[in-house]
Amino acid sequence: MAPADQPFSLIIFGASGDLTRRKLMPALWSLYAGRVLPEPFTIIATARTGMTDDEFRVRTRAAIGEFARTQPPSEAVWEHFAKALVYVAGDPADPGLYPRIAHALKDAEAARPGPPNRLFYCATPPSLYDDIIANLGTSGLARAAPGGFTRIIIEKPFGRDYESARALGRQLAEAFREEQVYRIDHYLGKETVQNILVFRFANGIFEPLWNRNHVAEVQLTVAESIGVETRGAYYEEAGALRDMMQNHLLQLLCLIAMEPPASFDAGPVRDEKNKVMHAIRPIDPARVQEAALRGQYAPGFVEGKRVPGYRQEKGVAPDSKTETYAALRLLVDNWRWAGVPFYLRTGKRLAKRVSEIAIRFHETPHMIFRRGPTGVEANTLVIRIQPDEGIALTVAAKTPGPDLRLGPVRLDFRYGEVFGGEPPEAYERLLLDAIHGDATLYARGDWVEKAWQLLGPVLDAWGAVEGPPLSPYEAGSWGPPEADAFIARDGGAWRRP
Ligand code: BG6
Repeated sequence: MAPADQPFSLIIFGASGDLTRRKLMPALWSLYAGRVLPEPFTIIATARTGMTDDEFRVRTRAAIGEFARTQPPSEAVWEHFAKALVYVAGDPADPGLYPRIAHALKDAEAARPGPPNRLFYCATPPSLYDDIIANLGTSGLARAAPGGFTRIIIEKPFGRDYESARALGRQLAEAFREEQVYRIDHYLGKETVQNILVFRFANGIFEPLWNRNHVAEVQLTVAESIGVETRGAYYEEAGALRDMMQNHLLQLLCLIAMEPPASFDAGPVRDEKNKVMHAIRPIDPARVQEAALRGQYAPGFVEGKRVPGYRQEKGVAPDSKTETYAALRLLVDNWRWAGVPFYLRTGKRLAKRVSEIAIRFHETPHMIFRRGPTGVEANTLVIRIQPDEGIALTVAAKTPGPDLRLGPVRLDFRYGEVFGGEPPEAYERLLLDAIHGDATLYARGDWVEKAWQLLGPVLDAWGAVEGPPLSPYEAGSWGPPEADAFIARDGGAWRRP
């Protein structure tokens, strides 16, 4: 049987939560509607809230109406999908829930042909991971049923520092083998993030330039215009470093900095990313301020609307020291990148929502032309991850006129214009990969631990009572003014995407 035709059951813990409603069910529906979800399948949703199968189906129908890319073309198609949804109420901390899940699985498997393939999805708050993993282990559900596979997908945060990440790793290892564990980082499922690898390794012309001889600096920006919204309580415990930097931005850095893998498979790709992590120069605990900067949004205006400061948000302490902006300066100490600074920044309530990677090349060694009114910029390659996905290269050109004057122009490729339509959601790709057993776009345990280890000195310094300053910035700005001085130390400046 081809892998794409394998039946499966997906068991979602945290099925009454936001992630299930906004991301998982809409993604599963879109895969089904696009006829790429292997069949037959059963989705066993579980959460503490008491609900019947039908109530869960109604709820899911509403979630799809609100969040899915595609809508059911007819009631009959919807009914067919809805029939595969089963709800089991129960507390994931209660061992008594697991025999009931096992029962639901047996029922589903008895009603269809093919092997008993099972995927567990932890979409709960991380405080429940311990119980879920332990209960899956002791109930025997973590072991693959004969002839089938069993996998577990877990959502970040994978711990909150190096020690807790290791503890989580150990706990997972008690119940599962590493090949069964899929740690999701939804950035890796974004089409444009996957395109970084295609761009680098399917085109011959960039790779010879992709090194210290030609690249002067790399800037990674993941800016959000939203604030913490309803997640104040979670965010207070996380902050920008844990919420975005430890995972999404460091993953992007690895995709930019890694060596070509021998093949596009989970082993080689993740090995190369790990090598980058090992090459990043450790942050000196005595010099954290040179490597990291933090900020917190104050009231301001975003898209013309007045918005409160972070400390005024619901669930946030009025004297909170949690950072909503973080910037890092990292060096990758290997032959390819020695001496090239990598600047990473992320924040909430910034001027606009934009994620991009900008690779600035060295200037020409000797300029024979006079500069035009706008000057000549160094060639910069910008990979726009969202929105307005695409790739642009800034080059110098002659501006029209009798004089030989120069100005920058952009060679611009826009996804939307070229391919049209909306790209699939990251969760669609990642769920499908987990079902097919492809972990290439998932984070591996050793990578996660290394990322925590790297950020350890910053986490310690920022967690200390007398830590480095927390710079306020106006909501709707590009971050704290101190961020400009932070990058200017090397003679650089942040881009204004
Ligand atoms: C999540 C963070 O991982 O990523 C959120 O927890 C953040 O705080 C989100 O808003 C951003 O994702 P995206 O796909 O909207 O860029």
